[in-house]
Amino acid sequence: MDSVLIIGAGAAGSVVAQKCAMNRDVFKKIHLASRRLKSCVDVAARCKTPVEVSQVDADNVAETVALLKKVKPDLVINMALPYQDLPIMDACLEAGVNYMDTANYEPRDEAKFSYTWQWPYHDKFKAKGLMAILGCGFDPGQSNIYCAYAQEHLFDEISQIDIVDCNDGSHGKAFATNFNPEINLREVTQRGKYWKDGKWIEIDPLSIACMVDYPEVGPRKSYLIYHEEEESLVENIKGLKQIRFWMTFSDNYIKHLDVLQNVGMTRIDPVMYKGNPVIPIEFLKELLPPPSSLGENYTGRTSIGCIFVGKKDGKEKRAIIYNVCEHNDCYKEVGAQAVSYTTGVPPVVGAMMLFQGHWGGKGVFNVEQLPSKPFMDEIGKQGLPWTMKEIKAADQAELFAVKT
Ligand SMILES: NC(=O)c1ccc[n+]([C@@H]2O[C@H](COP(=O)([O-])OP(=O)(O)OC[C@H]3O[C@@H](n4cnc5c(N)ncnc54)[C@H](OP(=O)(O)O)[C@@H]3O)[C@@H](O)[C@H]2O)c1
Repeated sequence: MDSVLIIGAGAAGSVVAQKCAMNRDVFKKIHLASRRLKSCVDVAARCKTPVEVSQVDADNVAETVALLKKVKPDLVINMALPYQDLPIMDACLEAGVNYMDTANYEPRDEAKFSYTWQWPYHDKFKAKGLMAILGCGFDPGQSNIYCAYAQEHLFDEISQIDIVDCNDGSHGKAFATNFNPEINLREVTQRGKYWKDGKWIEIDPLSIACMVDYPEVGPRKSYLIYHEEEESLVENIKGLKQIRFWMTFSDNYIKHLDVLQNVGMTRIDPVMYKGNPVIPIEFLKELLPPPSSLGENYTGRTSIGCIFVGKKDGKEKRAIIYNVCEHNDCYKEVGAQAVSYTTGVPPVVGAMMLFQGHWGGKGVFNVEQLPSKPFMDEIGKQGLPWTMKEIKAADQAELFAVKT
């Protein structure tokens, strides 16, 4: 296998294409397709080696099948939006191509992301002898692989996981989201959720917060939100008793979010305006800066990792595995900010794992079900080095004390 088709030439898709184009020993043929040809042409111009381009509307299965039959890739990396997951999976099944994405499916008319739509494709992919790899970005993606690595190499049993995600950067805009605005706002405005003692506990949006001490950043206020990797990790990390996801939001972000919500601008249902139906969140997305435009003046860094509590050789053990990524370094390398970069590098390494035979299987897989070691060995070389540290309860005093 050596031929890849990337669908979606946005902020993160641009990083995927450029990184594949820097690894021609693995990716002999690279094709980039998106809803607008201009997006592909612009990204291809940034790539260090030649990348072919096409226009495709990935909502249209027949159109995508025709492209797949023309290009004949070994793998599609879906870097478009979660809405396109199922149509692209259907097209892959019809054309006989392996599939990978970074975000799970959600329907346009309901802000609910879940694997319950994609997991049932397992038997169809298996029957065709194909592999679908779900959620191979940073979180989900790298975060799941940190968990798999901790389970396989650091712990005998993991009882508690806190995924901690900090963007301690500044893009200098009044308000912007670091990935697709529509998807980002749908994610953060829904009810929070975490898993404890075998059941899901729902909370009001952004209603629980605590200080998390982020490596190379320091203590930052972090909100408990629901994130999609929790759904698969509760299935795949044995003996797990609790998993939570924490993310930082600046006071400025929360202020804008409150106003946008209060005036109805984050609504996902159509509103009639001058006789035409308008979906407020789709209109809002057109007003906000695209995430691909934020890199140039972005300062600061992201610090994202997983904090584990468990047992090793009968003794309690606590550890963190994390990556720190500088916005400015990402911009110098590929013209992107660190959120796009941390999203775009893992699918490239995932594709390498498949092409080099480290990952394989027939059916639908979350990344923590696949060998973590070869991925962890490669990801640092591709730009996202990781650190593992044992910690004490006192190092994350608020996080371990917060009542949930
Ligand atoms: N796992 C993670 O860590 C993580 C983190 C952040 C984001 N993500 C996911 O990454 C994906 C991309 O995010 P982003 O920030 O790169 O968003 P983005 O900049 O808005 O890019 C999305 C791209 O999808 C393309 N697209 C939309 N509809 C399409 C269609 N029907 N057919 C073909 N192409 C279509 C658009 O193409 P045109 O430009 O051609 O119109 C756009 O460039 C999202 O699914 C997001 O949820 C994952």
